[in-house]
Amino acid sequence: MSATLPRVFVTRRIPSSGLDRLQSFADCVVWPERLPPGRDELLAAVRGCHGLLSLLSDRIDAEVFEAAGPSLKVVSNFAVGVNNIDLVEAARRGIAVGNTPDVLTDATADIAVALLLAAARQIHPAADSVRAGEWLTWEPTGWLGCDLVGRTVGIIGMGRIGQAVARRLAGGWGMKVLYVSRTDKELGSPLAAERVSLERLLTESDFVSVHTDLSEQTRGMIGAAQLGLMKPTAVLVNTSRGAVIDQDALVAALRRGRPMAAGLDVTEPEPLPPEHPLVGLGNCLILPHIGSATVAARDAMAEICVDNLIFGLRGEPLRAAVK
Ligand code: GLV
Repeated sequence: MSATLPRVFVTRRIPSSGLDRLQSFADCVVWPERLPPGRDELLAAVRGCHGLLSLLSDRIDAEVFEAAGPSLKVVSNFAVGVNNIDLVEAARRGIAVGNTPDVLTDATADIAVALLLAAARQIHPAADSVRAGEWLTWEPTGWLGCDLVGRTVGIIGMGRIGQAVARRLAGGWGMKVLYVSRTDKELGSPLAAERVSLERLLTESDFVSVHTDLSEQTRGMIGAAQLGLMKPTAVLVNTSRGAVIDQDALVAALRRGRPMAAGLDVTEPEPLPPEHPLVGLGNCLILPHIGSATVAARDAMAEICVDNLIFGLRGEPLRAAVK
């Protein structure tokens, strides 16, 4: 590879459409393993790089910037969430940071609805009982869940994904939508939704779906007090970041059966160890962070991510810059 090409470290294999394009533009080293590079491997690999393509599982902070040195111009995260990156430190050093908004909105909203429906109707324990040979007969009071039609959904964080979930649930099941958000949202017809306090949302909602980003303000925002406000019949879904919910409090609440069930695509940490108490709870359905895992979404994420890198390496504004 020519010495004049910019050097880029890519912390995992991403869809080849994006990677092939990047490889024709930059001298790329791609981490070949299924698991992320360890800390020392990451620090060694970024040395002298001009660009870094990171995943949400890579912690990108001052130590990484220091190891890369002054050549580093751009970090492109293969995710919409950027809580893994120290943005203040990046800005201080003049390093541009990009992410992949929009293209994973529908895929992630679909997973939120899938979790909500599966948790409300006990799909997984019911299916497991068939596999385990425990299906004895049709039972009038067996596997009773809750209906969705006409219920109230509370959306915590009414950004792109929150709105997409609200549209699905209001349009498909006629749900009333409440939301909490830093600002009032222009939602556009036909979605009618009311901005309320977190307390009112938790008290009145039959389904609560978490979509806020993870920041120092939102870390642990759903704790014991908040879970205690939820209806005993409620279902809690999280497709944002695990640390928004206090997991110890969630274990205690689910053991008490209030809320009735939870569906989580995200946990803290990831992966959640198999011996973690949440894993063993029959009323908690956990997925391995697959919100954006469709072929189309991941291809589109790769495209944006590579555009961000190429634009950043040229010193141009990124296609999707994190402010
Ligand atoms: C996934 O969680 C993402 O932030 O893209």
